[in-house]
Formats: sequence, C-alpha cells, structure tokens
Amino acid sequence: MTEGKQVFVEKKKVKKIKGKDEKLKADEIEVFIMGKSYKVPAGLTIMKALEYAGYRFIRGCGCRAGFCGACSTVYRIEDEQKLGFDLACQKVVENNMYLVQLPFVPGVKAEYDIEKIDPSDSILLEMYPEIARCVSCNTCTKSCPQDIDTMKYIQMAVRGDIERCAEISFDCIQCGLCAMRCPADIKHYHLAQLARRLRGKYIDPRSKNLANRVKEIDQRKYDEEIVKLIKMPNKDIKELYVKRKIEAEDEGDLGGD
Ligand code: SF4
Ligand code: SF4
Ligand code: FES
Repeated sequence: MTEGKQVFVEKKKVKKIKGKDEKLKADEIEVFIMGKSYKVPAGLTIMKALEYAGYRFIRGCGCRAGFCGACSTVYRIEDEQKLGFDLACQKVVENNMYLVQLPFVPGVKAEYDIEKIDPSDSILLEMYPEIARCVSCNTCTKSCPQDIDTMKYIQMAVRGDIERCAEISFDCIQCGLCAMRCPADIKHYHLAQLARRLRGKYIDPRSKNLANRVKEIDQRKYDEEIVKLIKMPNKDIKELYVKRKIEAEDEGDLGGD
C-alpha cells in the first residue's frame, strides 16, 4: 500500500453545513466527518457522502468499485462500542456514523526475485516469519470486506501449503484492513500475493492457449481486432466476454486463460 493514499482534502468552497439541531429531511441522514456534522442523502456510499459534504479525494480512492482496495475506512456508529471497518466506495452510510479516513497501512513487503526464489514448503515462513506469531484470534477474517477466510490462508502459509493459501486469498484486493488489526503484525496481503505468484509460476500447469496468444500478440495478429473492440459498445463487449472459450473447460486442466 502506498504512503498517504488515504488522505483527502477539503475543497475551498464547501457546501453550507446545516446545524446539528436542524431537522433531517425524510431522505437525509446525519454523519460526522472528522467530528463535524453533515446532513447527507440516505443511500450514498461513504465515499459519495464525503464528496457530497464537500471533500475531494486526492488519494485513498481508485476504482470506486470495490476492486483496488485503496479506500479502507474506519467508522463508529453512535452508542455502539465496536469499530466498523470497510471500503468507503462500497459501504453505505448509516445515521450517526462517525467517519475517519486512514492515513495508510504501512506493510513491509519481503524482497524477492520470483525467477530465482525457491518455491519450497517453508518459503512463505522464511519470507514472512511473523506468521508463526498468529494467535488464531480470527480478527483478520472479521475485518475482510471480501469475506475471505483470512486466518485460514495464514494457517495454510504456516503449514507450507502454497496452493491453498493462494486459492483462499484469490479475491484479496490488498486493502490492508486485516493487517491493520492483526495483533501479530502480520502483513497478510503481501504474503498472499507471494503465494499466488508462486502458484502461478511454479505449481499450476502452463496454459497452452495463453502461451500461444502471447506469441500471436507479439506477431501483431490482433491489432485490427483490438481497434474494433475499442469502438464496440460495452453491451457487445460483455456478450463477447460471456461467450468466450475457456481452455480449462475444454481440456479439463487448470490452465484456463
Ligand atoms: S485479505 Fe486483508 S487485504 Fe485482502 S481484501 Fe481481505 S482485509 Fe483486505
Ligand atoms: S488477526 Fe493476526 S493473529 Fe489474529 S488470526 Fe489473523 S493473522 Fe492470526
Ligand atoms: S476505490 Fe477501489 S476499492 Fe474502493
């Protein structure tokens, strides 16, 4: 995760903020941003509510669709003791929600050359020895906005099961919410990324179709088709995608493209 990615700044001309004692309209709710009260339309995501209130994201916002993991947010609902953790672009605001953006999650990443690394059973433990400190509290799993069994993939890593660690963590978007809360200081998402890279490079069978396609792309076989695709309406592109040929289905192996 990059330093400063969760910072946002206030616009020079912010919307006029109503006083806390003013009544809410039927479709409004009250949220608190950095302790300040804002009335925002119900149904907005945290990200849109912040923007509605006059804030402009300069970092901590990427895809706006739950994929890039840039917008991790902590919140508390008034009178609830528990903190909430979620993605600002996905979580819908609730009445009396207190919001803060996180500065960033400073996760130290192991250095390796994937071409030279030894994909042995102990490699994940060697690269990230802190995984041995896991106390099985399951806090990481409960923090994950992707509903990944995060604790399980850490346990698979400790056991040296690269394949399962990669498989369980497949939907990780590297938001860092698990790492932020882990009492053992584990950087789950970096470790899981290494497991997936190792599986892709050393464990799964090579995809014949993919190798052929890369060769054909290098020979510029698809230049004309790419120009056609760029001009195609989204609806037609989606249809083409759904109808695509999947190698693994055809050939019964795991090498699909
Ligand atoms: S495993 Fe961790 S970094 Fe990955 S999506 Fe879940 S909370 Fe975010
Ligand atoms: S939060 Fe950390 S210590 Fe707790 S289960 Fe997850 S990896 Fe283990
Ligand atoms: S902006 Fe990409 S996950 Fe929220």
